[in-house]
Amino acid sequence: MVETSQARGNFIHRTCCRICGSTKLDKFLSLGPSPLANNFLRVDQLNKKELHYPLDVYFCNKCHLVQLLDIVPPEVMFKDYAYITSASKPMELHFAGLAKDVVNNFKVSKDSLVVDIGSNDGTLLQYFSKMGLRILGIEPASNIAQIARKRGVTTINKFFSKDCAIKIYKKYGFADIILATNVFAHLDNLENILYGIDYLLSKDGVFVIEVPYLINLLDNIEFDTIYHEHLSYFSIYPLIYLFQKFGMKIVDIKQIPIHGGSIRIFVKRLTKKQSQNVSKFLSTEQNAEIDSLKIYTKFAKKVALVKERLVKLLKTLKNEKIRITGYGATAKGNTLLNYCKIGPDILDYISDTTPYKQGRYTPGMHIPIFPEEKFHREPPNYVLLLAWNYADEILQKEQKYRQKGVKFILPLPVPKIL
Ligand code: TYD
Repeated sequence: MVETSQARGNFIHRTCCRICGSTKLDKFLSLGPSPLANNFLRVDQLNKKELHYPLDVYFCNKCHLVQLLDIVPPEVMFKDYAYITSASKPMELHFAGLAKDVVNNFKVSKDSLVVDIGSNDGTLLQYFSKMGLRILGIEPASNIAQIARKRGVTTINKFFSKDCAIKIYKKYGFADIILATNVFAHLDNLENILYGIDYLLSKDGVFVIEVPYLINLLDNIEFDTIYHEHLSYFSIYPLIYLFQKFGMKIVDIKQIPIHGGSIRIFVKRLTKKQSQNVSKFLSTEQNAEIDSLKIYTKFAKKVALVKERLVKLLKTLKNEKIRITGYGATAKGNTLLNYCKIGPDILDYISDTTPYKQGRYTPGMHIPIFPEEKFHREPPNYVLLLAWNYADEILQKEQKYRQKGVKFILPLPVPKIL
């Protein structure tokens, strides 16, 4: 096992809930200290001190938001970012579907402006552009914003805020569609963001967010999706509370199968219309008792059990001199690897299709990352599926190797050999 030289990074500790301001917060799970999950290291960084931060999860007894309170400055996390949407084909398909869903169900005109907050490499916006709409991306990671611009997507390299919204309005006018996919959970100051949305959204416009759903996280023990970038783990209840403060209302919700189970939420200014889906989601949440701390205490116990079983399985295989690798150098994989202390003594390497990650090492555990060609050239006996959110696609794609005897290990909700 490679010993990591750790240092404590700077962070801010919140003392109240980021949605309702309550101080009645209970810590129910501790996964840290951990390095930042997307901080893949170059070889020359391996011997330097690596910053670690607490990774503790809290439950708000008032509005029920599940959240992290130790906040790593966003400039540290998002300035140079490893996640590129177009590296994952299933995400491209997903975004094509999202664009259709929005345009088919909400009023847009030829000159409607679509603003995407956390627009990454512009993949989602390009689908709206193909439909003839005006597009604008807001992306704080400069390396990713550059990629988007090269693809022809006008991108502002900034964090979205009220000030940013005012500037956009002055230059481009109101937006009929504002999107925030897989970014809303990353934001600490939700009120400032909502002020910005409120300012920029046209009177009849729609704000669309996609976030991983707390119920799926709890049901499938997806504890690895907990890392410093994800500050909130949303259910509907606290979101209603948040939007109400701004005279906005959730008008529809759809369950979507990405990132281990997410929800697509459509928000408009107060209107009488509301799909029955909203009350269905709320009653599911009530039945799951997500308003009670005991559910979270139980969850923490299940997490400890996954760790125990997975480590036992991998160590048993390793003792039999079996070659194991990892599949997909995911951020969530880094929570799993660091929490379970699975290092290069267990996984020879991790294969990944993202050029940025190839040749680098995973944060904390320092497992080398190689292109997937290595996996195909020298297939291991077992492979730990760290990108389990793409399990169907990956198992299909690697069928030939599975037929040759390569066995996939699914870590969650109970470690399982496929
Ligand atoms: P992602 O879904 O973004 O998970 P996280 O948010 O936890 O980082 O990452 C998926 C990773 O898996 C990404 O680095 C690309 C990689 N990948 C492969 O290597 N092969 C594949 O076939 C697929 C679908 C993804």
